[in-house]
Amino acid sequence: MNRPTMGGVPAVSAPAYVQHQKLINWVSEVAALTKPESIYWCDGSQEEYDRLCANMVKTGMFKKLNQAKRPNSYLACSNPSDVARVEDRTFICSESKDDAGPTNNWMPPAEMRQTMQGLFDGCMRGRTLYVVPFSMGPLGSPIAHIGVELSDSPYVAVNMRLMTRMGKAVYDVLGADGEYVPCVHTVGSPLEAGQADVSWPCNETKYIVHYPETREIWSFGSGYGGNALLGKKCFALRIASTMGRDQGWLAEHMLILGVESPEGKKHYVAAAFPSACGKTNFSMMIPPAAFPGWKVTTIGDDIAWIKPGKDGRLYAINPEAGYFGVAPGTNRSTNANCMECLVANTIFTNVALTDDGDVWWEGMTKEAPAHLIDWQGKDWTPAIGKETGRKAAHPNARFTVAATSNPVLDASWDDPAGVPISAFIFGGRRSTTVPLVTEARNWVEGVYMAATMGSETTAATTGQMGVVRRDPFAMLPFTGYNMSDYFAHWLKMGETITALGANQPKIYCVNWFRTDADGKFVWPGFGDNMRVLKWMLGRIDNNAGGANNVFGITPQFSDLTWDGLSFTPEMFTQITSIDHAAWQDELVLHTELFDKLQHRLPSQLSAVKATLEASLVK
Ligand code: OXD
Ligand code: MN
Repeated sequence: MNRPTMGGVPAVSAPAYVQHQKLINWVSEVAALTKPESIYWCDGSQEEYDRLCANMVKTGMFKKLNQAKRPNSYLACSNPSDVARVEDRTFICSESKDDAGPTNNWMPPAEMRQTMQGLFDGCMRGRTLYVVPFSMGPLGSPIAHIGVELSDSPYVAVNMRLMTRMGKAVYDVLGADGEYVPCVHTVGSPLEAGQADVSWPCNETKYIVHYPETREIWSFGSGYGGNALLGKKCFALRIASTMGRDQGWLAEHMLILGVESPEGKKHYVAAAFPSACGKTNFSMMIPPAAFPGWKVTTIGDDIAWIKPGKDGRLYAINPEAGYFGVAPGTNRSTNANCMECLVANTIFTNVALTDDGDVWWEGMTKEAPAHLIDWQGKDWTPAIGKETGRKAAHPNARFTVAATSNPVLDASWDDPAGVPISAFIFGGRRSTTVPLVTEARNWVEGVYMAATMGSETTAATTGQMGVVRRDPFAMLPFTGYNMSDYFAHWLKMGETITALGANQPKIYCVNWFRTDADGKFVWPGFGDNMRVLKWMLGRIDNNAGGANNVFGITPQFSDLTWDGLSFTPEMFTQITSIDHAAWQDELVLHTELFDKLQHRLPSQLSAVKATLEASLVK
């Protein structure tokens, strides 16, 4: 990788176990630019984690929660201006604007480098620069890749320990000259001599910058989530998607789950949903009581890296090692396994604090506690909430917890070989139009379904909530290159599988979110999604029970198992009916998307659209 260097910088002293001179030189260069007070090389140990957390308690960034109620857990509350990913400040700086495509913000790399040089000059004054080595994926796995994040945020260092395989062992994999993705992060809030720190330093100016050709990430001004934990969206999706394009694999915004029948037959499926559409819930789903012997286990809840094996099957790993999930709405009935993850050893961000030193968020219990300190440190009571509309927890409040806390973690979650994928599921949040489940008749039709996905927006991103936006493959904010090229890459992957002599995984489109005339969800969702999953498995194993319609293959009422649920054929019709007029409007939106992506759009996708249009007017 030919990355620009800054030249003539003082050497830093690295621990003896760091043998990678190029990496040490890079740390020196970044330190010379950002001018931190000190440099700290993270080793990833428990002792280090506890020490950094204790320091943050001292500085006010963390509150330690009641040890009896929530052992080894902390609460951080961010600045109100720093609560979510900032898509409008996220840039893909490829050499050519066309390579970033019309869905990404772009700036020429040389111009962006100049801007970054100015912003990063002295940005870590008065702070510690943490060197955070991490592996995305099981250490040494042929599907995994390594990153090193330099950050002036101890919050980032401890979150990275939960979210990735972070620490000393990464240097053993790197050796003296291994490849890594350099990630530079600052909260952009230098401290002058004697200046007191604030509990959540950040900067109003924010830049989340990716250089796909040189595989670098530079992030300025935010300490929150995907803006700051650079292994997640920046590396594992934006940079990794470009690596996948170049090297013939896929980096996807997908959960991976294992589902095993009472007879012991197991399949793994990967499912893409836009942010805050219940991926964590789906990945830890508890099958209904009426499904004895069925087991669902988690490989990952957010991101999948998928490479073709020699046998042509697609093998997936979860590049992450933890969950950074949305807290509001999570409770013992929506996701009991997740609540179990959170009983200890968790970092909470922007939830409310109870009077006895525990946490609470909207939807955690039916009744809110009588008094809370809200995520902005203000008194909150149910009456205040009602009067002002103020939430006790921010709608995008999060928990960070290690995957090993998950009671239904799949036995193969850390298998370097990955797990074989039998099906892809794509879903959006749509109150109308899109039926409960549809199976694509072939790979190209499936790619079309995924490419034209729409979803109502949520609190995970800044901007207006609840408007339908096209979110191809749930990757709109995460594809690090031209979206049309990304579609072409998916089409090519389908051909690769066939060329290697394997069956292509089936592709499904689902929608759990259709509402009735009163705006209420008709489908119970959560554990009952098992009913849809079971139908899919029957299709995968022997093409059981499905009828052809305009868009693909769908189940009839009698094809699903209804034991233990009173769900009528009328309700089923409500969530599966295809309203031709609504679909004609929907296809106009597909046309708008394709017009936007016209340059380089694969012709196979336009052909699928033409076929659908023709069958709809009949
Ligand atoms: C996430 C997101 O945090 O998609 O996973 O926003
Ligand atoms: Mn996500």
